[in-house]
Amino acid sequence: MSNRGNFSSRIGFILAAAGSAVGLGNIWRFPYLAGTNGGAGFLLIYLICIFTLCFPVMVGEIAIGRKAGSDAYGSYKKLGGGTWGYLGLYGILAGVLILSYYNVVAGWAFGYFLEITFGNLLNHADFGSFFGEYVNSIGPIFMFSFGFMVITAIIVSQGIAKGIEAANKIMMPGLYLILIGLIIYSLTLPNASAGVEFYLVPKLDQITSKTIFYALCQAFFSLSLGMGCLITYGSYVTKDQNIVKSAAIISIADTSVAFLAGLMVFPLVFSLGAEPGQGPKLIFVILTQAFQSMGPVVGRIVGGSFFLLICFAALTSTISLLEVPAAYFVDQKKLPRKAVVWGMSGLIFVLGLPSMFSQGVVPFLNKLPLHNAPDFLSFVSDLCDIMLITGGCLMCLFIRYKWKINNMNEELEIGNTGYVQSWLSKYLTFAITWVCPILLGILSVLVITDKYFGLEWLFGAA
Ligand code: PHE
Repeated sequence: MSNRGNFSSRIGFILAAAGSAVGLGNIWRFPYLAGTNGGAGFLLIYLICIFTLCFPVMVGEIAIGRKAGSDAYGSYKKLGGGTWGYLGLYGILAGVLILSYYNVVAGWAFGYFLEITFGNLLNHADFGSFFGEYVNSIGPIFMFSFGFMVITAIIVSQGIAKGIEAANKIMMPGLYLILIGLIIYSLTLPNASAGVEFYLVPKLDQITSKTIFYALCQAFFSLSLGMGCLITYGSYVTKDQNIVKSAAIISIADTSVAFLAGLMVFPLVFSLGAEPGQGPKLIFVILTQAFQSMGPVVGRIVGGSFFLLICFAALTSTISLLEVPAAYFVDQKKLPRKAVVWGMSGLIFVLGLPSMFSQGVVPFLNKLPLHNAPDFLSFVSDLCDIMLITGGCLMCLFIRYKWKINNMNEELEIGNTGYVQSWLSKYLTFAITWVCPILLGILSVLVITDKYFGLEWLFGAA
């Protein structure tokens, strides 16, 4: 294990895993999903999902990784035998697909950073139509996404301690600071309280099966669960570390960034008289409008730094997404890390091209001939969401029936003496044997039959 590399310290692992978790999911996807799914009701279900379902799955994944000390495939195979390895491969595939479209959105954010800081983006009059044009300006988007993938590859090819840890130590504190600054600003605007109310006062009749599904998927996505990312990172964790405590810190860090992002966005949305349910373009439209109103100089500085920090946050997530297949090829196929990293990033970049071209330039990719005619990017993102919750469900079944919950508890006791007797261990045991597999299983079946077999019990015909 020593030649695979380890995180040099406890804080190194926590920062890396939190860096993986905090990303576009928190700042871009969480606010727009909350905006389209009822605001406070969504937030409430999201928080419930984090505590009841996601936290136990996170602990389970890290435990599997540290015990087995291998990549996602190798860990399942080592603890469960040959066939379980496929569950690891399923996760690796999900990671590859996520990175393919995630990198495109990161390219948008990178472009916004450059256009705000060095261009004249903030001079536009209509940021909604600007966004539409921008994501279809294939030349720049191609270059920015390409650049993003190259930076990710450079860092991942450096290996664990040097590359991944170092990148994370810079980004997290900066992100918190700028979020808090922007929240203070947005709360002082007229009509901000309507936004706060939308975001924090739940109306129970707005919670539907759709809210529950999207909140759960978002929670899994945001915590980087269900696809072997934390198994892979867990495999670099040393035995003296307290897994449960680390998982709690990672969950709190991630959830707080998402929460703060919402608290920044919705007062702005309402004070600008904008529509909260405008989908993926929400932060690109609302925030640029806010930066514009700060005046040409301040807007440029604050807006530029904000999008730069989003890029950093996205980068620590793309790093973790690329690390999952990279670790697989390095551990299982004994290939050199550098060759694997560059090969995989090239392949994933190409896989992302249909997503890049799906925002209008290629009409076929913009409206796929499927139920509800999604664009290619949304199609892949929905598919990945489903892969994450099914992956999480199968992981619980793996622990319950194959690896056995006692072995997991034994692993968690290492670095956390007294854990097995604690109430927390009873709770996590109960969650992983009953609550998570049953709820995740039911939701997976409902969603798959709804989305791909047209049964329409969750989403209706809309
Ligand atoms: N959690 C990341 C985000 O919120 C995305 C991600 C998902 C990263 C799955 C790794 C694995 O942006």
